[in-house]
Amino acid sequence: MSTASAIAHPNIAFIKYWGNRDQALRLPSNSSISMNLDGLETRTTVRFDSQLAADALQLNGSAAAPAQVARVSAMLDLVRQLAGTSDFAEVTSSNNFPSGSGIASSSSAFAALALAASAAAGLQLDEAALSRLARRGSGSASRSVPAGFVEWRAADTDEDSFAVSVAAPEHWDLVDSIAVISEEHKAVGSTAGHPLADTSPLQAARLHGAEGRLAQARQAILERDLPALAAVMELDNHLMHAVMMTSSPPLLYWQPPSLAVMHAVAAWRAEGLQAGYTLDAGPNVHVLSAAANAAEVAARLGKIPGVQRVLQAGAGGPARLFEA
Ligand code: DP6
Repeated sequence: MSTASAIAHPNIAFIKYWGNRDQALRLPSNSSISMNLDGLETRTTVRFDSQLAADALQLNGSAAAPAQVARVSAMLDLVRQLAGTSDFAEVTSSNNFPSGSGIASSSSAFAALALAASAAAGLQLDEAALSRLARRGSGSASRSVPAGFVEWRAADTDEDSFAVSVAAPEHWDLVDSIAVISEEHKAVGSTAGHPLADTSPLQAARLHGAEGRLAQARQAILERDLPALAAVMELDNHLMHAVMMTSSPPLLYWQPPSLAVMHAVAAWRAEGLQAGYTLDAGPNVHVLSAAANAAEVAARLGKIPGVQRVLQAGAGGPARLFEA
């Protein structure tokens, strides 16, 4: 086969990945845990062709910037090496969610690319091998390979650092309501941010407790315990942002409406509406609640000044091939 197409969902981390022990291999400083976001997806087609003079990349209908092509080519190089081919490839990729919405599109992008490219090159990688490969393109992409609720293990070697599903999507009808606050591109994205983590005096403290928080989050997921998940997720989120704010140079991703949403969620919880929040490397706030409360959460989020729109997603499936 020289052409293959794959679909993958982005994911939201409950316990965050921030900082690498090996930058080149994307071996993370700590393990992380996340949920795939159903309904939001990247679809990618890869075609290897011996006639091509270079790799080409179309993103959402237009030719991609050179830096984006280079990052995709680096992943294609890994696939070419595994498959023993030197053919270049044509890659076409599109997201069904707004590119500037602050959803981590690199997670779904590199999970879909790893699967489509390896299948197009004739490789049949198992889930762990696919997750390892996706990790090389973007760390969080390792978690978009398995289904549902997913844990990515930190380790010292390429072989040992990959993600596994801890619960299927059907296990828990949790919904992520994403308060979109800014659609602008971030000044410092995740890739440039990870190397700064160790410049913060707080990163060591954050890493010291990471395994404990991971175990608490895993247990909360297995027991479908939202108050427990919310507590550990918000603690982990505050720790990551504290590291970001105290690195050199400092990274301050929160905007005033981000803080308004965080205060609102805490107030709703005090009134009895169970929910918890987390933010990635950007100002948008992900609010997790039971599906039964998701419409109420979205309606309330929509009324907070500065919230431009609300996207919603339940737990999603694994990266998979499809017939284009
Ligand atoms: C804050 O996976 O986007 O979203 O490996 O450089 O592509 P690269 O970084 P990326 O980092 C994600 C950081 C985060 C937390 C998380 O998703 O765990």
